[in-house]
Amino acid sequence: MANRTPIIGGNWKMHTDLESGMRIASEVIDYVDSISSEDAPAGADVVLYPPFPYLQAIESITGPSHVQCGAQDLWIEEEGAFTGEVSASMLKDVGASMVLTGHSERRHIVGESDELVGQKTKRALDSGLAVTLCVGETINERNAGNTLDVVCNQLSKGLDGISADAMANVVIAYEPVWAIGTGHTASPEDAQEVHVAIRAHVESVHGSDVSNNICIQYGGSVKPENAKDLFACPDIDGALVGGASLTADSFNAIIEASL
Ligand code: 13P
Repeated sequence: MANRTPIIGGNWKMHTDLESGMRIASEVIDYVDSISSEDAPAGADVVLYPPFPYLQAIESITGPSHVQCGAQDLWIEEEGAFTGEVSASMLKDVGASMVLTGHSERRHIVGESDELVGQKTKRALDSGLAVTLCVGETINERNAGNTLDVVCNQLSKGLDGISADAMANVVIAYEPVWAIGTGHTASPEDAQEVHVAIRAHVESVHGSDVSNNICIQYGGSVKPENAKDLFACPDIDGALVGGASLTADSFNAIIEASL
């Protein structure tokens, strides 16, 4: 059994302004650096995903710390007439090391297809960014008994053409759509069941070395109060946090619960 380092992500979505974002980031950095030493990071990998306009400023303070800075999205081309879009090389240029693909708000509000998510994942990895691929079912899909089919289909298309070697730079986030921003967290048992299925899917494609090492985060109304029970599940390797990442107190408490 691999010894996976949990990864705790703070997805700020379209929240914060420059001042509040810098304040949250510096309080997270203070906490994470206080529990790290120079050559031994905290025991959890911590990534903040600010809105695009604040990425460079946030990265200027995360850069020298044990906290990483990531982006919430990217476009599939490197350059060109794509008004409003941002490329992988632009993200790297301002210091992002990681990017989310397939977040449910992009799938369900913006209308991104599984195929587009796969293209974004491939482009990011080819450009040297690590990727957190988000997957998850809607409440109707869950009630119809289709959760595992939906999630495995999103994985197949989201990871299409990705080599076993490149999988070293992939994290999966299981985020049931019905649990995001609703206060309804999946029970640890329900989340663990899907995480096991995700790991089995990765094993069927890439073998057990890759599946044992890949981190699978849970996301959906994670709070300090429920984090410990989720992290106690053997296949839950951290969390992708929305609302509770908007104050350093609650986000740092979730980091602490993962240690
Ligand atoms: P909440 O933690 O606000 O439910 O959001 C989860 C999420 O979507 C993280 O990407």
